[in-house]
Amino acid sequence: MSNPDHDREAEVSLLDGPPHDVKIKPIEKKKEAPQRAKLGLRRTLSEKNLMALTGLFLCLFLAVHLLGNLQLLLPPEIAQWQFNFYSKLLSGNIFIELISYLLFASILAHAIYALVITIKNRRANGHRYDYDRRGVTSKWYSRKMGLLGTIILFFLIIHLRDFWYQLQFGHVPLDKDGQKDLYTLVVTVYHSGWYVLIYVLCMIALGYHLLHGFFSAARTLGVYDPRYVEWIKILGWIYSIGISAGFAFIPVYVHFARG
Ligand code: HEM
Repeated sequence: MSNPDHDREAEVSLLDGPPHDVKIKPIEKKKEAPQRAKLGLRRTLSEKNLMALTGLFLCLFLAVHLLGNLQLLLPPEIAQWQFNFYSKLLSGNIFIELISYLLFASILAHAIYALVITIKNRRANGHRYDYDRRGVTSKWYSRKMGLLGTIILFFLIIHLRDFWYQLQFGHVPLDKDGQKDLYTLVVTVYHSGWYVLIYVLCMIALGYHLLHGFFSAARTLGVYDPRYVEWIKILGWIYSIGISAGFAFIPVYVHFARG
């Protein structure tokens, strides 16, 4: 930032005329830094837009995925037939396959841009402040989005290995109707208490990640209007708690009721 006193001093000395042995820098060169900063800010904003858009798409996916998984809570006989039928319906559909590619691309883009923005912010801040007062204005989970995101990525690797990979490339037994028995696969995985515990902990991380992500996306996309702030807050809390509690409840229920 320019110091007004220095600028005034510079003006006076220029009016007096430059001494012959002093070279005056061309004024245009001074404009370079703010221009570079503006360019960087614009790029960061478009990266944030991409984070917000992929994040909202992932939020939509989570709502649909949770609705599908709630079928696991139906009485066992019905749940088995219905969940396996639902899975068969999805796997044979070209439209769902395209959405699935978009989903994996969004997860990758979201994670990569999060890393890029984090590294840029660290470089821009240079060093940690001796006395860090950021906690006064922001929530702890807003400052730990990287950690929460990493926990979710860890969860996704285990999750995709156990279900998606098994369904696509593994040997899933068939049910009595000849459909791949994904229901029994899920119930068998949730027999393990440790597995269920890890799931629940990861869902708590997901809940906090969604909470901050929801408000952050609303700000980035410019819908965080003062007139709707209260509504956006209520919606964010309902969505984040509903999704994370819903996903956490399913393995706990299956473990104790079908174990
Ligand atoms: C109770 C919790 C959950 C259960 C029972 C569950 C179950 C499943 C099953 C059975 C599949 C394989 C189905 C298929 O590929 O067609 C699957 C896929 C997947 N799940 Fe989950 N899931 C749960 C929570 C989550 C959460 C919290 C996330 C994200 C944070 C997630 C992300 C995914 C993704 C990205 C796929 C791959 C989807 C695709 O094939 O396009 N799941 N899940």
